[in-house]
Amino acid sequence: MTSVKKQIADELAEILGTTVDIEDIERPEPEHGDFAYPCMKAASELGENPRALAEKVAEETDLEVVENAEVAGPGYINFFLDREKYSKQILSDLESEDFGIEQKSGEVLLEFSSPNIAKPMNVGHLRNNAIGDSLRRILSFSGYDVTAENYIGDLGTQFGKVIYGHKNIDSEKNFEEEPIEYMLDIYVKFHELAGENPEVEEEAREWAKKIEEGDDEAVRLWKKFREATLEYHKEEYERLGIKFDRITGESKVYEEARELVEKWVEEGKLERDEDGSVFYEFDEEDIPGTVLLKADGSTLYITRDLYNLKKRNEEGFDYNLYVVASEQELHFEQLFKIAEDMGIDTEGSEHISYGMLNLPEGSMSTRKGLIIEQSEIFDKAVEIAEEKGEEEINRNLENAEAIGVGAVKYSNLSVSRKKDMEFNWDTALSFKGDSGPYLQYSNVRAKSILRKASSSGEFQQDFDDEEYRLLKKLSEFPEKVEAATEQREPAKIANYLSNLCEEFNGFYHECNVIGSDREEHRLKLVELFVDVTDQGLELLGIEPLEEM
Ligand code: ARG
Repeated sequence: MTSVKKQIADELAEILGTTVDIEDIERPEPEHGDFAYPCMKAASELGENPRALAEKVAEETDLEVVENAEVAGPGYINFFLDREKYSKQILSDLESEDFGIEQKSGEVLLEFSSPNIAKPMNVGHLRNNAIGDSLRRILSFSGYDVTAENYIGDLGTQFGKVIYGHKNIDSEKNFEEEPIEYMLDIYVKFHELAGENPEVEEEAREWAKKIEEGDDEAVRLWKKFREATLEYHKEEYERLGIKFDRITGESKVYEEARELVEKWVEEGKLERDEDGSVFYEFDEEDIPGTVLLKADGSTLYITRDLYNLKKRNEEGFDYNLYVVASEQELHFEQLFKIAEDMGIDTEGSEHISYGMLNLPEGSMSTRKGLIIEQSEIFDKAVEIAEEKGEEEINRNLENAEAIGVGAVKYSNLSVSRKKDMEFNWDTALSFKGDSGPYLQYSNVRAKSILRKASSSGEFQQDFDDEEYRLLKKLSEFPEKVEAATEQREPAKIANYLSNLCEEFNGFYHECNVIGSDREEHRLKLVELFVDVTDQGLELLGIEPLEEM
């Protein structure tokens, strides 16, 4: 069904004889109608008087669902809808399987998480995981065929360091018993050692190189450490409800990446320097040039990404999305420019950039003197959720895990992704404000109303103002999902759900449901609220609960 907003936009376009951007149709305060359109922009385009245009629209509008169109101010047109007809349209959207969301088609490669391994994920990976996972859910829900890829950073000097450490440094930790702690320990000790003897850095680089060269011992150790880290990460992803369709890694593409650059050299597209390395210089002066191949023939991070891009195109993906921190903006600018220059299509490729997550305690753990691990943050959130449950809503929570995890995810998703964010334990875990626990709690409250009801809901009366406000808020869900899809922005859904819950709690405060003479009518609203919040939470990767 075409949304009412879209119907109004089409009608306006026809009457005005110009294009009407659906985004320009506003939702005014209730006393000014259900929708409003400012005619000023169209008037200046058409060289007409805005007020006269608004009058023309008011006169000619002929939509079933519009009860009345009024001219206001210097050129606004306010639309008042027939509540009953409007409610039928909303119902038919929200009760369809896709909630009336415009369905997209196309194959999407969505890359996210992609940690460097041989160490646990840390606070730096948290926002990525939250955004990436939510986008996987949102894009799939909008109809895309999504392949979620975890492109592991499994090459490079950090592995050389761990191998060097493993061979030369003693640790009280035991690899067989606690592999990740062991790797972390030798990694840290390596850095202490390198502080005194910088020459060990060179040895670590040698080991890293040996991996690429296929040296038996290096490859054997590398495999062992790689597997152990993946195993460790697997549990963490499971805890967070994160799924990938494939796990790849830099190690899977370095050979092809080298061959690709060598082919470009042969074809004369690139030149080798005297020492055998290949350096790429940009025409744009403000973009720093970059090495694509080292003198010893080994590849770099960007080289491997170049091959990846080409490969994903060949696999037939229509979109190639990278969820990677804003710190790597230059990397992606360079990557896409070089690719285009070399004739690799970058049409569907996008860097889905996001800002920093700042913790009030900083990013270093006092306990270990290392960067705070992602799991420590979730653990702490779960503990606080338990405490707050008792303090704020008087509950002994059995599902503190889902609430704590959801709270951290929500905080990360509700700030528009490009912005840096300050994490606040108190507000993130509160059941009362704009937070994950608040959304879960509102959803659970509505479910408990439904459990008490003896029948199911049905619209059967005229809508009073409170009911109508809630109904209208519910009707915004599909367009918020559409916006989140188009802008790759989970915050659109997170913020909407928070407003919706506020609206619902206001409604429930004002209106009796069970036992009122409008019980069935209002139950229908409660049911729709449960459907929308269940689905909305799902899209954020936050677990909707049955009880609290
Ligand atoms: N492993 C990299 C890091 O931790 C991120 C990889 C991002 N993805 C990519 N295709 N470059 O910095």
